Amino acid sequence: MSASDAPRDAPRDAIACLVLGGGGHGKVVLEALLAAPGVGRLGVLDVRPGTRGQSVMGVPILGDDGFLARAGVEGYTHFVCGVGAAGDNPRRVAVFDKGVAAGLQPLAVCHPAAVVSSHAGLGAGAVVLAAAVVNPGAAIGANAIVNTAAVVEHDCVVGEHVHLAPRCCLLGGVKVGAGAVIGAGAIVRQGVGIGENAVVAAGAVVVRDVPAGGRVAGIPAKAMRPAS
Ligand SMILES: CC(C)(COP(=O)(O)OP(=O)(O)OC[C@H]1O[C@@H](n2cnc3c(N)ncnc32)[C@H](O)[C@@H]1OP(=O)(O)O)[C@@H](O)C(=O)NCCC(=O)NCCS
Repeated sequence: MSASDAPRDAPRDAIACLVLGGGGHGKVVLEALLAAPGVGRLGVLDVRPGTRGQSVMGVPILGDDGFLARAGVEGYTHFVCGVGAAGDNPRRVAVFDKGVAAGLQPLAVCHPAAVVSSHAGLGAGAVVLAAAVVNPGAAIGANAIVNTAAVVEHDCVVGEHVHLAPRCCLLGGVKVGAGAVIGAGAIVRQGVGIGENAVVAAGAVVVRDVPAGGRVAGIPAKAMRPAS
């Protein structure tokens, strides 16, 4: 179910959704949720001290992760991971796991200004933001981010928890392993495979497969020096 197609699946106001994280990415997720019909009630959880009782774009911050224990009692049914953390993807996985452990359903979200083919698949909790395009035959994994203006061409397979940063472009048939990050503006040539938890630097042009855990940068992309 996604926020954009929720009215076909459930009464318009039946979904009550928590956004886990009220920072920068949380705001962009909220922008998509507020723009798309289908969510009756929204709340934000934020672990930053002093944020409880404040609001983000008019949506109340209800507390930190402690609120998850009573989310169901409070009537919340769904959640979206609102943490972007391009340099720390395991954090996004941990946030997602907390939402699932609390018994909430991950809600897939499409900004109404994104174009997602009806012949593409979106995993639970995947987020497709404004001006992004997901073309036919593509499959986007659970909790993946297709960030602003990113392009996922036909027949790509994007693993769970992947972050496709703004304006990156996966050409046809690219496969991206779980947990990988494709940096802003990067281009991945058709048919290339990106291994699990790999990082492609912003602006790179990837023309060869990248191994699991690999870090590549530049044009053409080459392995980055290991951090000293
Ligand atoms: C690749 C990346 C993860 C490296 O970050 P880092 O581990 O902190 O690395 P550093 O900034 O310390 O840079 C290490 C080296 O890589 C180089 N480098 C960093 N980013 C680079 C890039 N995008 N292209 C080419 N070289 C890059 C640095 O110049 C430095 O080179 P040096 O060792 O010769 O001095 C980061 O630069 C990046 O591109 N992240 C993606 C950002 C993004 O898209 N965010 C989206 C948020 S929504």
